Amino acid sequence: MTQPVPVPHGLPVERDVSPFDPPGAISRLREARPVSPLVFPDGHEGWLVTGYDEVRRLMADTRFSSRQDLGVLHVPFETPGMPPATEPSPQMPGLFISMDPPDHTRFRRMLTGAFTVKRMKLLEEHITEVVERQLDELARLTPPVDLVQEFALPVPSLVICELLGVPYEDRDTFQVNSAKFLEKDVTLDDKMAAFGAMAAFLGELVTRKRAEPGEDLLSDLARHDELSIEELTGIAFLLLLAGHETTANMLALGTFALLEHPEQRAELSADPDLLPDAVEELMRYLSIADIFYRYATEDIELGGETITKGSTVVVSLLAANHDPRRFEHPDTLDLHRKARGHLAFGHGIHQCLGQQLARIEMRAGFGALLRRFPTLALAIPAAEVRLKSDMNIYGVHELPVTWTSTAE
Ligand code: HEM
Repeated sequence: MTQPVPVPHGLPVERDVSPFDPPGAISRLREARPVSPLVFPDGHEGWLVTGYDEVRRLMADTRFSSRQDLGVLHVPFETPGMPPATEPSPQMPGLFISMDPPDHTRFRRMLTGAFTVKRMKLLEEHITEVVERQLDELARLTPPVDLVQEFALPVPSLVICELLGVPYEDRDTFQVNSAKFLEKDVTLDDKMAAFGAMAAFLGELVTRKRAEPGEDLLSDLARHDELSIEELTGIAFLLLLAGHETTANMLALGTFALLEHPEQRAELSADPDLLPDAVEELMRYLSIADIFYRYATEDIELGGETITKGSTVVVSLLAANHDPRRFEHPDTLDLHRKARGHLAFGHGIHQCLGQQLARIEMRAGFGALLRRFPTLALAIPAAEVRLKSDMNIYGVHELPVTWTSTAE
């Protein structure tokens, strides 16, 4: 039985149930009105979509444009139905996550071959080595240590650098600027400065690769003469950012979730064959890339509501992945659940290009961490772990952990 709930003013973001569950207001809204009007802070109306079926249908429907948004980046710029722009509109060449067909199709086609399951399988051995080496280094440290800095961030950064041909020595430039770019409460000037620094760094890199291509993915792309340096820079920016921030947050928050669910963790440690299902369930349960924007290019019926042309539509993947109509006991972490079909990698034409890579990294990462550090534990009370509610991708800022020295 659903109760009428008021139309939300602003997006409910407070994780008031647990660090892992959707905000209570979002869950209540999903039960009452999975396609709900939403009043933006400036007073104009848009829509918030929280139901699994509705989100899935929306993401498969290209009448909902991705143009007004920079995907996970959330740089605001003028769009029909959105507040008048008080900020510049960086429509970046090559940033295909915020393009519609046919532009999106052109870039996506160029990249699909590089990210096939087969190509990613070839990388698996290398990824395992990266994970083991990073854990060797971790084992040499005296706990407590921050698992984010020592494991969760380096592993995907090393892997994406190797794949793209970005020197890992330059990680300070891209890690700091990417993080700045994903912060919510950063002034636009700071955000644009971070973006400018990344664009300058990557622009130089792809220019060098065009002149002297090597054996990496950006060099392969640089061989396409029809791509401009600006487009190559945009693609490099998207792949580098999406390729390390997301997986890093999954590894760190996923470890936190496992430490907070000791019986699930014990089952996973006892049965590594459970890893593929466990990774899908952690992806579903945590849905770290939660909020995405679309805009309606025409009047569209969705979930019994009419979304009028020009409306801004906010999608919550976390809410959809916790929809009890699709997943039984959705707020329970159950590593035995067959969670495939979750929407944590999105759906439709923009569905995550790097999902196979991310899966391999997570299976290797969680598997080896649990095997080599069976006594891993939080070094501070769970309530003191700093959560990234101030970022556009959810996670933990730090995860202080400890273990007993007989771990290795
Ligand atoms: C797109 C999530 C890892 C590259 C997406 C989308 C989601 C997502 C939800 C859809 C965006 C939309 O519909 O607007 C994640 C999560 C990851 C992850 C949760 C890790 C656990 C990666 C990795 C890469 C990557 C490792 C590697 C390069 C991309 C790209 C797109 C994308 C390029 C845009 C695809 C397009 O517009 O066609 N990701 N991602 N992601 N992801 Fe990922």
